[in-house]
Amino acid sequence: MKKTAQIFAGIRTPFYYYDMEILENTARQVKELAEKYRIDVHYATKANEDARIVSLLSEVGFGVDCVSGDEVKLALGCGVPVSKIMFAGVGKSDEEIFEAGIAGIGAINVESVQELYIVNAIAAKYGFVANVCVRVNPNIDAHTFRYVTSGLNTNKFGVSESEFPELVEMLAQCNNVKFRGLHFHIASQIKDIAKVTKTLCGVANRAVEWFAGHGFETEIINLGGGLGVNYENPYGDTFPDFEGWFKAIDENIVRKPGMTIHVEPGRALVAQCGDLITKVLFVKETEVKSFVVVDAGMNNLVRPAFYGAFHLIENLSAEERPSLPSNRVYDVVGPVCESSDTFGKGRQLPLTVRGDLMVVHSAGAYGQAMSMRYTLRPIAQVVYSDRINEAEKETPIL
Ligand code: LLP
Repeated sequence: MKKTAQIFAGIRTPFYYYDMEILENTARQVKELAEKYRIDVHYATKANEDARIVSLLSEVGFGVDCVSGDEVKLALGCGVPVSKIMFAGVGKSDEEIFEAGIAGIGAINVESVQELYIVNAIAAKYGFVANVCVRVNPNIDAHTFRYVTSGLNTNKFGVSESEFPELVEMLAQCNNVKFRGLHFHIASQIKDIAKVTKTLCGVANRAVEWFAGHGFETEIINLGGGLGVNYENPYGDTFPDFEGWFKAIDENIVRKPGMTIHVEPGRALVAQCGDLITKVLFVKETEVKSFVVVDAGMNNLVRPAFYGAFHLIENLSAEERPSLPSNRVYDVVGPVCESSDTFGKGRQLPLTVRGDLMVVHSAGAYGQAMSMRYTLRPIAQVVYSDRINEAEKETPIL
């Protein structure tokens, strides 16, 4: 549905707006490509834990990648089959391991030799067998933002090649774990996915051989997520390059009989279906700058403050009064008492006035999921495009 100030008029701001049509189209196209290239998609729920979104992606047939016990519970609550739930993370608590293991999820992705030992000990104590994959740190530079790089040997994730001998020795002693395969995830917002995937598949193929040579056959190769989206042009480039990614996997991975290839995209599935809609509280002209102060803050969308991330910003109300003077340059800022609470610096926007509705685009991934209540600011409501009438309305004061 086309976003206009008119359709959003009267809704309590700020709010996350999820376009369910974009989400469904994306999911459907990804499903078709996944079938074409024989790839099993697991949605990384951390990108957006909205129950409707998780349920919709599960209904399409995707599994999930979780990183906390509560994400595993969310997935179960959303009807994701237990065998399609994967659970990664360097720091799982005993309770999280116990609950995921006894539920019989597809795999706990163990990230260290010590974790493998603990998973086995918990499973032995309570009399179950835990499915595990081993997360391998492939030491590959994906040339993306340093905060979202996770596949270098200086990062905390996974087991490096030099630890393989110790790991298989431990595996051989663990009677209460079932080795299912290998897991990799190197980074997020990767632009040149084909090149990085080729390198990753090379490392994965060698690791599969190594484990087979030591008595452990790989049933699942999980190549992680990381496909980037176009934050500069969300309207023109809504569907990320899933085909380029899957094709690169298909061409470079060595498939052994009975082996399943998993990927776990988060951002690429949900970023473009979500926007943060916020209202202009004040326009502040100072000697050196003009500020548009909006009612959403870094507590609602932390990516610009946290990573210096770019999100396209648009003034929806100005589109409905085209006769007014055109471009100005503004810093778009939130109400929180931190200078990093800035959604965009030096943005060219139409003349903006109090009460205008602004869209911060491509906020469906790591938007609401990373929100917080710093300074006790509220969590934004969620408005779905197909349930817009159910949105909470604002109470006018003035
Ligand atoms: N699998 C694992 C093990 C991961 O750690 C992640 C993301 C994914 C899959 C999904 O990656 P994606 O396809 O979404 O790139 N908050 C940051 C992104 C952090 C990503 C963390 N791990 C941001 O807002 O850019």
